[in-house]
Amino acid sequence: MKINAAVLEEFGAPLVVRRVELEQPRAGEVLVRLEACGVCHTDMYTASGVDPSGYAPTVLGHEGAGVVEQVGEGVTSLKPGDHVVTLFSPQCGECIHCRSDKTNLCLAIREQQNQGYLPDGTTRFSRDGEPIRHFMGTSTFSEYTVMPAIALAKIDPAAKFEHACLFACGLSTGLGAAMNTAKVEPGSTCVVFGVGMVGLGAVAGCRLQQAERIVAIDLSEERLELARGQGATDMLTGGPDAVEQVLEMTDGFGADYTFEATGNVNVMRQAVEAARMGWGLCTVAGVAGKGETLDIVPRLLITGRRVAGSSFGGVKGRTQVPKFVDLYLQGEIDVEPFVSHHLTLDEVNRGFELMEAQDGIRSVIHFD
Ligand SMILES: NC(=O)c1ccc[n+]([C@@H]2O[C@H](COP(=O)([O-])OP(=O)(O)OC[C@H]3O[C@@H](n4cnc5c(N)ncnc54)[C@H](O)[C@@H]3O)[C@@H](O)[C@H]2O)c1
Ligand SMILES: [Zn+2]
Ligand SMILES: [Zn+2]
Repeated sequence: MKINAAVLEEFGAPLVVRRVELEQPRAGEVLVRLEACGVCHTDMYTASGVDPSGYAPTVLGHEGAGVVEQVGEGVTSLKPGDHVVTLFSPQCGECIHCRSDKTNLCLAIREQQNQGYLPDGTTRFSRDGEPIRHFMGTSTFSEYTVMPAIALAKIDPAAKFEHACLFACGLSTGLGAAMNTAKVEPGSTCVVFGVGMVGLGAVAGCRLQQAERIVAIDLSEERLELARGQGATDMLTGGPDAVEQVLEMTDGFGADYTFEATGNVNVMRQAVEAARMGWGLCTVAGVAGKGETLDIVPRLLITGRRVAGSSFGGVKGRTQVPKFVDLYLQGEIDVEPFVSHHLTLDEVNRGFELMEAQDGIRSVIHFD
């Protein structure tokens, strides 16, 4: 079929929205009609050409929500009409990682996905016979996409697509960092460094875990206000004295749980230093630049602080994303304030501009 998709043709240049060819789903694959898709930093990062593992041409986008249109041979977990959220982090349910409750890093299709192919090593997108690669196994800046069934979470159809799509990446990452990786205990003190989409999710996650005190730290007043709306009890302006301020608020000890959601290694260091002696746990969600390293004074570890990293919040997508969506439907997670702009697919590059200007939290593309 011929469809419209936003293609990264050339690094550093705007995406080109054009007609491309999409093949039928093969065995284990699903054709999804996208309804909404968030625009995320990772899309822009790849488009810029800075990401050394990036490839072109490819159809970008990974924060999608839509409807199953058709399933390939052998797919029993989904049927036409199901509402789904796309997962760049799949869940095969069978690999050694899927069978462990310690990690969400499914091993089933990693290699092919990282190179922009579906699990059988080919693409379904093409134009004039030339293959166009799949991005993050999702490629959701597109009216339709073909994805492995193990990378789709079936959700309650009552969820609005423009809200559901945010659970595909940043929001679930933040929620999961607090709920899965840190497993925040009731009554604890938490500090979240950086309250963009991921950090706001972490604030909400800390609240859902019944933290007593949630300190949000950011450079933007507007974002600190959003953090208050998600349950932050204290708001601080970030900067060189952020650690000192946290120590002052906690009788000199630091917080039970700290979260880093900026991607800046200096802030990661602050998050480690603001964690409490004895048992403070720092969870790093931000993605640092290639080659950057995190500096930690070893004494901080010996005296009981711990550091953990969190990919997609440790969320096993097919199992847990539907539960997050249910929490949202029950009114436990307020998603509306995260959707700042509504765009059409033709306006996808505008989404990058808005993100660069830090205008709002998320731009959502609507397909119709
Ligand atoms: N681990 C994962 O699976 C995963 C998933 C999605 C995104 N990420 C990463 O998480 C990070 C955050 O993503 P996002 O979408 O929320 O980004 P964002 O840019 O929307 O948010 C980052 C926030 O950090 C704030 N900030 C910058 N410098 C600061 C400082 N010195 N002190 C305090 N706050 C500061 C900014 O004002 C901004 O509000 C990025 O690095 C992104 O790549 C990781
Ligand atoms: Zn993302
Ligand atoms: Zn697996």
